[in-house]
Amino acid sequence: MHKSKEDRRSFIQKMLGAGITATGLIGLEAKAGIQKPFEILKANKSHFSANDQIQIALIGAGGMGNSDLDTSLGVDGVKLLGVCDLYTGRLETAKSKHPGIFTTKAYEEVLDRKDIDAVIVATPDHWHKQISIDAMKAGKHVYCEKPMVHDISEGKAVVEAQAKYNRIYQIGSQGLSSLGNQKARELLQAGVIGELNYAEGFWARNSPTGAWQYPIPADASEKTVDWVRFLGKNPHIPFDATRFFRWRNYRDYGTGVCGDLFVHLFSSLHYITGSKGPTKVVATGGLRYWKDGREVPDIMIGMFDYPQSPEHPAFNLSLRCNFVDGTSGNTYLKLVGSKGSLDIGWDDVTLKLNHINGPMDAFDKNVAGNQGPNRHLPIMNESGDRIYRAEDGYLGAHHYHHQNFYDSIRSGSQKVEDSIFGFRAAAPALLCNQSYNENKILNWDPINMSIQHS
Ligand SMILES: NC(=O)c1ccc[n+]([C@@H]2O[C@H](COP(=O)([O-])OP(=O)(O)OC[C@H]3O[C@@H](n4cnc5c(N)ncnc54)[C@H](O)[C@@H]3O)[C@@H](O)[C@H]2O)c1
Repeated sequence: MHKSKEDRRSFIQKMLGAGITATGLIGLEAKAGIQKPFEILKANKSHFSANDQIQIALIGAGGMGNSDLDTSLGVDGVKLLGVCDLYTGRLETAKSKHPGIFTTKAYEEVLDRKDIDAVIVATPDHWHKQISIDAMKAGKHVYCEKPMVHDISEGKAVVEAQAKYNRIYQIGSQGLSSLGNQKARELLQAGVIGELNYAEGFWARNSPTGAWQYPIPADASEKTVDWVRFLGKNPHIPFDATRFFRWRNYRDYGTGVCGDLFVHLFSSLHYITGSKGPTKVVATGGLRYWKDGREVPDIMIGMFDYPQSPEHPAFNLSLRCNFVDGTSGNTYLKLVGSKGSLDIGWDDVTLKLNHINGPMDAFDKNVAGNQGPNRHLPIMNESGDRIYRAEDGYLGAHHYHHQNFYDSIRSGSQKVEDSIFGFRAAAPALLCNQSYNENKILNWDPINMSIQHS
């Protein structure tokens, strides 16, 4: 085992204090529970009185902003005061859905209000850094969507701002607040799959909206869209509704499939393993199908070296994303160890353990059957899956991620995914883009969060 029993126990104790509880660990550690093929995972809920309100505003009221808002309002003790967006249509929708709120196209007006405790930032990626820093400076707690930053060079400023203004700052990779990720972390740390040596992850899509061809409203124009503000730090160009509503396809605003999707896999992987990140990153890919003027590939493959660290043994990671996928939409994260593997979802985990038949050392001549060229390799037989599944009525990763945010604000102590964690998850995803664009292998220092130039 990589960790001592004592380390492991205190690690698990810490983890169990992090908002949700996955059951069954004790039985597994004692190797007693393994016989059961199925186990139900249960989650904790927070409850607050009606007068204990956290008052929030949403900045960026598109697809994810609305989803974040609905989920936040499903957590007890959260009240919406205002919505900021750059497109009039979205402000009108917000007003009709939430009568009585104020709306604006200027996020500074949200930050000026003293009655707002926290903001959700769900703008395109190129605005995450600046709005996050300005919001913390204005005294707001921030729930910022992934990836934390648009460019690696922006990460340290956000980390410094959180330290300086001492706010709760949580990134929106909801997977790591899931029962599935939590159970996987318990199982890995308990040594159930042995020594981790390999991990892989995958996202696949095969529809126009899955590949970011979002509808463009008929009234899109410079009258309904604050185009100059949208451009932000980028050079001024004439109004282009496609760039505004399909911003993910353009490097000035989005971060490609890696920033959009690999980042979820890094977040979950780092949470489950306790890792700070890889040291070596290389990526390749191409634009194979969605040749609609986009500037980013629709297929990407990344490979990563995670060296031995106090948190985990050395292992390799491979990630893939395919927007032309014939097997239909799919995602998985798999961790492979010396004794078995974990297939990890947000609502479930499947544990596969191997029985080893035959000698482990195929080169030991003293073992019968190992002589000569026909020596036999150890045979790994699966002993049957054990499935952990969330209880009926489980509200899901997104709910518990938002609950963790508000619990953190109330307790004054950050539970999950602060700016350091968020930067360490975003960085290897952004490095994939850089590796692909520059045709280079890149070296990353995950402890100091900086690129290593050779
Ligand atoms: N956690 C998840 O599972 C998940 C899923 C989808 C998207 N996201 C993230 O959420 C963010 C938003 O994605 P989306 O799909 O909702 O995009 P979207 O285009 O649907 O919405 C973005 C909204 O932000 C607004 N906006 C742009 N610049 C702004 C600014 N400066 N101030 C205020 N509003 C501004 C736009 O008008 C638009 O309505 C992205 O960073 C994305 O990566 C996360």
